[in-house]
Order: sequence, then C-alpha cells, then structure tokens
Amino acid sequence: APSDPDLVERARAAKETLGGNVFILGHHYQRDEVIQFADVTGDSFKLAQQAAARPDAEYILFCGVHFMAESADILTGDHQQVILPDLAAGCSMADMATASQVEQCWEDLKRVGIADVTVPVTYMNSTAAIKGFVGREGGLVCTSSNAERALRWAYEQGEKVLFLPDQHLGRNTMVREMGYSLDDCVLYNPHKPNGGLTDEELRNAKIILWKGHCSVHGRFTLECVEEMRRLDPEVNILVHPECKHEVVEAADYVGSTEYIIKQLEAAEPGSSWAIGTELNLVRRLANQFPDKKISFLDKTVCYCSTMNRIDLPHLVWALEELVAGRVPNTITVDAETAGYAREALDRMLTLP
Ligand code: 13P
Ligand code: SF4
Repeated sequence: APSDPDLVERARAAKETLGGNVFILGHHYQRDEVIQFADVTGDSFKLAQQAAARPDAEYILFCGVHFMAESADILTGDHQQVILPDLAAGCSMADMATASQVEQCWEDLKRVGIADVTVPVTYMNSTAAIKGFVGREGGLVCTSSNAERALRWAYEQGEKVLFLPDQHLGRNTMVREMGYSLDDCVLYNPHKPNGGLTDEELRNAKIILWKGHCSVHGRFTLECVEEMRRLDPEVNILVHPECKHEVVEAADYVGSTEYIIKQLEAAEPGSSWAIGTELNLVRRLANQFPDKKISFLDKTVCYCSTMNRIDLPHLVWALEELVAGRVPNTITVDAETAGYAREALDRMLTLP
C-alpha cells in the first residue's frame, strides 16, 4: 500500500528540521515507506561500517533490528545516541543464544579440553553480550558478506571454531565456500546437557555450530527450489546463506542482501530470478527492475515480522520526539560489554 501522504510529509518536515543532527540508517529488509527516508541503506556489514560515518550527527536513527542498533552504539562515539524506533524490533535468531547458555557451552569445551584451541565466531545477528563474550575470548564477529574470510582468520588463530548463533551460515560457509565436509560440523543444542553431544564428538569436530536459525530464511525448502525449476528451467535461484544447507546447495547463487542486489543490478534484461530472502527486499527489487523476471522463491514465506515493526508511524514518532527535544528509545550497551564487543567487531572490520 502507498504510504499515508500526511505521515510522509511529517517525516520529511521533521527530518528537515533536524538537519545534520540526525543520521538515518536503513537495513535492506525495511519497508519502502521507511527506506525512502534512510540516508544510507545497506546489509548488516555496510551498516556497521557506516554507523560511525557521521560523527557530527548527535542522533543515529536505526531502522533495522535491536542487535544492529546495539552494534551501532558500540561503534559510535559517546556523544552520539542510537535510537531504535520500536523497541520490540528484535531478532528471533539473536534470541536463540543467551549469554548464560554460551558461557555454559564454553565450560563444556573447557571440560573436554578444547576451549584453548577453539576460536569463537559470532554472526552479527547476536546480542551485544554474545559479541562481548566472543571479543573476550579472542574471536570475532562476521556477517553474511564476510563469513568465509572471518572463518579463515579464525583457523589461523586456532584449530576449531565455535560458530554462533546461525547453524546455517556456519555450515554453508564451511561446506560450500571452504570445502569442508558435513562430518566436520557438529550441532550444539543449548537445551541439552553437553549440547546433546558426546565428549568424543566435540573433540573430533572442526566446527561446533550453535543450534540457532532464522525463522524467515529457515522456511525456504528444497521442494520450492525444485518447483521453481520445473516451472521455469531458465530460472536463476539466488538465496541468502541463512537458508538451509540443502536449499543453498541447490541454488545457483548465494550471498548477503547487498550481494543479491548487485547480482540483480548486473543481470541481463529478460533473465529470470527466484529470490530466497526477506519479502520487502524482493518486492522492492522486482519493482526496481521491471525488465527482469524477479519472483519470490516461496509464496508461503512471509516478511520478517520484527523488521516490519519499524513502520512509518514509528519513524514519524521518533523524529517528532527529537524535534520536541526528547530522545526516545535509546539503545545503550554497558561499557564493559561494549569494550569486548568492540574488539570482536574491529577484528571483522579490519579483516584483510
Ligand atoms: P545481511 O544484511 O548480512 O544480508 O543479513 C540479513 C539479515 O538477516 C539481517 O537480519
Ligand atoms: Fe533475524 Fe531472520 Fe529477521 Fe534477519 S530476517 S532480523 S535473522 S529473524
């Protein structure tokens, strides 16, 4: 639906009043009605890089989810405040690894004698507490656009990796990008003693994958890939690496949201594409490139409900609060956690 013209005008007016004092970042999964007001759009890596790009802006308005706003707070100066227009915009994947569960896992690795040779790596989609743990133990953060480089770095530091919290990104990168076998991977279930694994399984693993996943991407199936190919033998299947391993294996191209956009920008007119990622982005790309046949990989998969919580009314509210001299919904990470988390983020940002 087109955005309410009154709200569009209010957002525009408030943004103009705030001028360079507000910097609006928008993740590619945000609604069109929100994305139109973003100063920078990007995947989670680009947004982490860009967070500190405007040191003069007092307010960073983050249109994305909670873990992204936390990362922006960690990476920006103390004089800057990060605002999340709706505090309920979380991420179900990030919630699948709590600090106490991860500390327990680390104790298990210590008990079986492998913590010393294990480097923890966390996907950006995790809480600041998890990034802090990883930084404290000498590991790093990765995103879907640099997971392979991050893992190669980790294997220069140690023999094994504990990969948090997305099993799929970890497995897909190890097997598809780096040539390891599925047998090199074990799955640690935080709800079971010792992760549901024997000591022997933990000791033999090359990578210990956390049992977390994205509730949106986890719903694309091998059957929907096969159905797409049956309907259109010419179709190119392009998916995000948060999809299940069998889906990624059956796809033609795999990459982050930024990669997906670049791939479609470069695609031949008339070519046909089925995309396995969040629906707001796929819709936007289909509208942007009417000369290419762009479809959604599985019609039964829906929007990321938490990304969608940031809508135009929330954006207008946050901007108008700032105009009124109030600072709503600030996201602040405590100094100790932020210090360790920043080490983990900096190791990613400076990867060769
Ligand atoms: P990227 O922005 O790294 O492609 O990640 C997608 C995602 O799920 C963010 O929540
Ligand atoms: Fe989290 Fe998945 Fe939504 Fe990304 S798409 S914010 S990983 S639930």
